[in-house]
Amino acid sequence: MQIDSSTVFIPGATSGIGLGLALRLRAAGSTVIVGGRRTERLAAIAAEHPGIGTVEIDTADPASILRARDEVVARHPELDAVVLMAGIMEAEEFKDPSSLEIAERTVVTNLLGPIRLVHAFLPQLRSRGSATIVTVSSGLASVPLAVTPTYNATKAAVHSLSETLRVQLETTGVRVVELVPPATQTDLMGLNDNPTALPLEDFLDEVMGILETQPEVAEVLVERVKWQRHAEREGRYDEVFATLSARYRD
Ligand SMILES: NC(=O)c1ccc[n+]([C@@H]2O[C@H](COP(=O)([O-])OP(=O)(O)OC[C@H]3O[C@@H](n4cnc5c(N)ncnc54)[C@H](OP(=O)(O)O)[C@@H]3O)[C@@H](O)[C@H]2O)c1
Repeated sequence: MQIDSSTVFIPGATSGIGLGLALRLRAAGSTVIVGGRRTERLAAIAAEHPGIGTVEIDTADPASILRARDEVVARHPELDAVVLMAGIMEAEEFKDPSSLEIAERTVVTNLLGPIRLVHAFLPQLRSRGSATIVTVSSGLASVPLAVTPTYNATKAAVHSLSETLRVQLETTGVRVVELVPPATQTDLMGLNDNPTALPLEDFLDEVMGILETQPEVAEVLVERVKWQRHAEREGRYDEVFATLSARYRD
């Protein structure tokens, strides 16, 4: 993706990594539209950053996805990139029956949402001749965290989906880039207060550096995430899994 000349829609950019990436891409010269459910956040972003567009979208609702797609494409017929950022992460406990609701919500938002978004935006992206879909998985796609079973599973699925989508689209001009964040300080599951998580601006510095120097990259892997992503190939899977599982047992 050309960071300085793309027109990018980021559903899931009212806070955290999505908003940070939106501001970085805008500063680099791209046109950026952010989306999310929290209309008060969208209004605040529009007021603070007049160059950034905003669109209300609930990626768990198929009708809302199509409405937002129509609005974005009508306003920006040159749209050539979509970042599938919207996601939720909540602790679950299989011994507590009420966790089923969390699991169902997580699958709809983190897995069905990106699948529906790809279907909704693909005709537009294909019509551009050259375009990009950025999927957002996680280091937990490679080694799971026992506190969040369904979250990990959806992110492993997003990784798998990214691989096959890339193959299916290879003759279309639409590239698939997988962004793989490690634990990063955002509102997600209280990570803002976690000193072991990567500061958001440090994460964004590395991401922008990778996108700028490797515009053809398939996976955006910052150094911190390689502990998880490369665990299996480097023979460290059991050790990393045991470390992550200890956080549940504590
Ligand atoms: N932070 C990390 O450590 C980390 C690590 C790996 C992967 N990730 C992934 O990075 C992505 C962004 O997370 P974040 O850390 O930046 O957390 P965040 O600050 O909580 O941001 C989540 C974003 O997703 C949006 N969202 C959630 N459900 C939505 C829905 N149904 N419809 C539309 N938008 C929705 C939220 O907007 P509204 O609430 O306004 O709708 C918000 O803008 C997620 O996919 C997450 O899984 C994060």
